[in-house]
Amino acid sequence: MTSISIQRSAIDTFKGDCIVIPVLKNVSSTNLHPEFKRLLKAATDKEGFKSECKESILMMTPNVESRWVMFVGLGDKKSINSDRVRKAMGTAGRILLRRNFKRIAIHSNIDLDTSLIKALVEGVMLANYDFIMYKTKQKKAKSFDSINLYSNQKLTGFDRTIKSISVGIEACHRVRDLGAMPPCDLYPESYAALVKKESAKAGIKCEIWNPAYLKKNKFNSVLGVGQGSIKSPRVVRLDYKPKKWSKHIVLVGKGVCFDSGGLSLKDAVSMEYMKDDMIGSAIVFATLIAASKMKPNVWITGLMGLVENMPDANSYKPGDVLRSRSGKTIEVLNTDAEGRLVLADLLDYASELKPDHIVDLATLTGAALVAVGDGVNAIMGNDQKLIDSLINSGSEVGESIWQLPLVDDYRELISSPLADVKNITGTRWGGTITAGLFLQEFVNHTSWAHIDLAGCWSSRERDYRPYGPSGEGPRFLLDWLLDTE
Ligand code: BES
Ligand code: ZN
Ligand code: ZN
Repeated sequence: MTSISIQRSAIDTFKGDCIVIPVLKNVSSTNLHPEFKRLLKAATDKEGFKSECKESILMMTPNVESRWVMFVGLGDKKSINSDRVRKAMGTAGRILLRRNFKRIAIHSNIDLDTSLIKALVEGVMLANYDFIMYKTKQKKAKSFDSINLYSNQKLTGFDRTIKSISVGIEACHRVRDLGAMPPCDLYPESYAALVKKESAKAGIKCEIWNPAYLKKNKFNSVLGVGQGSIKSPRVVRLDYKPKKWSKHIVLVGKGVCFDSGGLSLKDAVSMEYMKDDMIGSAIVFATLIAASKMKPNVWITGLMGLVENMPDANSYKPGDVLRSRSGKTIEVLNTDAEGRLVLADLLDYASELKPDHIVDLATLTGAALVAVGDGVNAIMGNDQKLIDSLINSGSEVGESIWQLPLVDDYRELISSPLADVKNITGTRWGGTITAGLFLQEFVNHTSWAHIDLAGCWSSRERDYRPYGPSGEGPRFLLDWLLDTE
């Protein structure tokens, strides 16, 4: 665990490994300690350091206690915002982490409002991630022991801010961890058990529904997807319910622990990352744990649909008709469009609870990646206010969410000559939207938003994001939950 604290003493007494000093372009840091002033001048004059956003330079400091200082460019004052600050500090943070620095100071001596000071710490903390569970040679994950914040501002009441940073980061890292776990270890039963254990610690109510229970309660669409795997499905229901709550929110997550495509088998390359098809459910789980610590006045129900989609003699088949929990029949024409089948039953159950809002999170379509790339999530829904508030929370925390339209004209594309609906359209175009329209069939007019998680997996290391699961999701949801109470 990394400790974060505010320091009131003079910066030159800091005895850790490195002092990180954010600098703005073309703004002279007049009140810097003379030693840092000298070094910054050398960096600028001799090393060509320009204080561009995300630029950084590491230098030795012979004349103060800490051995290293790092200047981090924040770019122009005009274009500064918390996202840029987070990413600048995150880029620097990855460098510090790689160098095995443990005790870090952030020396903020420029005038920044508190949300930007928060972003300074958050950026470094988002970068503070290393997953070594499957490395036999590396015994300890790289991690900072402490981050000490030295600011020229007063920072009253910053304790709750520090708490919300830690809780948000922990949730982000939880999603990264779960997304990194291989399907041989993370399958519905083991995943549900892990969730149960962690929720007990957090005081969250957790029910695990096994196949017999699912059958009795007509979750036939979930069961259909799961029937080809020897690892049987589970649905997990989590509840965080404070004594006083103003709204009831249901979060629904796709938890396909491995998506081979089933009998409509994916090719080898498309299958490589399909262990991550459970990230929606990991976001739901991590958000509930985070909520139990930040305690918003909302009742949150989490539903995680955990299955494995495999080819087998017992698999569901293209041509099968599933009688979903809602009573609607679904013609399955492609077993690889399984996420919407899992969600169909969960959304139907969710809408029966008559909550104020349903938000579902799912790695639902490859088309979402085509549409918005892997740094953005796509959102759709039937309640513009809800969508706007989620997009807004995304921009607050630096996670980009972009709306796609649920085009009414496309609805006919999922009508089936045989059953009530079919699970694919027969056209290559607009796949993210038609998947959204399919889900809408099961929400019964409840206020609902669907997020197709194109941004859940980062194909390259950039700013604070390591290669792999990005950990996006819980931070914007937490921001949104704290706002909607
Ligand atoms: N899990 C995939 C979607 C996916 C693909 C997410 C690639 C991230 C990267 C989903 O179950 C799927 O296979 N969807 C199909 C739907 C199609 C058959 C209509 C797809 O996107 O190809
Ligand atoms: Zn699939
Ligand atoms: Zn899938």
